[in-house]
Amino acid sequence: MSAVRVLGLESSCDETSAAIVEGGSVIVSQRTVSQVDTHAKFGGVVPEIASRQHVRVITEVVSEALRDAKMNLWDLDGIAVTCGPGLLGALLVGVSAAKGYALATGLPLYPIHHIAGHVAAVGLCGEWRPPFVCLVVSGGHTELLLVDAEFRFQRLGGTLDDAVGEAYDKVGRLCGLPYPGGPEVDRLAELGNRAKFPFPRPLLEEEGYDFSFSGLKSAVANRWAKANQHGETVQTEDVCASFQAAVLDVLCRKTVAAVRATGLRHVVVAGGVAANLGLRRQLAEAGVEHGFTVQFPDLALCGDNGAMIAAAAARIWQTGRTATQQLNAHASLSLEDWQDHWQTL
Ligand code: KG4
Ligand code: ZN
Repeated sequence: MSAVRVLGLESSCDETSAAIVEGGSVIVSQRTVSQVDTHAKFGGVVPEIASRQHVRVITEVVSEALRDAKMNLWDLDGIAVTCGPGLLGALLVGVSAAKGYALATGLPLYPIHHIAGHVAAVGLCGEWRPPFVCLVVSGGHTELLLVDAEFRFQRLGGTLDDAVGEAYDKVGRLCGLPYPGGPEVDRLAELGNRAKFPFPRPLLEEEGYDFSFSGLKSAVANRWAKANQHGETVQTEDVCASFQAAVLDVLCRKTVAAVRATGLRHVVVAGGVAANLGLRRQLAEAGVEHGFTVQFPDLALCGDNGAMIAAAAARIWQTGRTATQQLNAHASLSLEDWQDHWQTL
């Protein structure tokens, strides 16, 4: 890949991030402003507040990333931006900013699918080894994909209801943990008894690569309510450990099935939940047992960030998949629509 320098912008949810990446693999600079503290008091992301916060900080975040890199906009080769999926108002802030920078400089504009960005993050942390099976686990997505050398995606299956990160956040809320619950549930799970509550493993025995987490979440809620009714003391650590054990059994079993069916021997994990310590351990063990290698992004690059968006643009650079000033934000955007209909985004 040529050493193109790309500015990547990400604003699909509650992080405003800008990064300059060289050659799709080296982060020259990155600035991220998180809104987590603002939304924590509401127990979840408030879309209107998120959009306003992005507007407030985006130009400053870009200026700081450029300053850290000792560059100006004209030193760049392209501008990349998350155009979907995500919160519409939040996405529009990044898309509008990117269009402005592209118009002012004449640089090409790369519209990036948020999940393609998460997948590209692993190329910022180590060797890029397509084709591979990719397990995408974030707050909005849970999917198994095939990713080829052209950075094209084939979907094997995905969640039929809640995303895995969403389930973590809901269980976190049930347990009275601060938002977002995922990291806290993960931390407490390390301290609890994973066999204490036999929570269901939805779709574990089913053929195929679909997931379902809403019944599991309800099972945790019901067990919690039952304990309250009977005045039973329940250790939060045990709830977290038992919930996490159920989630990880399903994620790992389906990933192993995808490896077997495709004959591929490499797995990449992408998205916010890739930071989960239990998942990192259990999937690595499954790899040793079943003869495949597993790559996770560094912890700092599992969450939303601008560098992964710039890295994804470098991966599609040769295809010339650039956007015009007509580029719009898309709250729901499938990977298939992104890769096949990029001209009309
Ligand atoms: O990818 P991401 O930053 O945003 C989306 O694209 O959705 O993922 C955020 C999600 C949240 O649900 C958060 O609770 C979860 O990732 N998460 C975790 C962990 N760290 C973040 N879930 C489980 N264990 C973690 N260590
Ligand atoms: Zn994300």
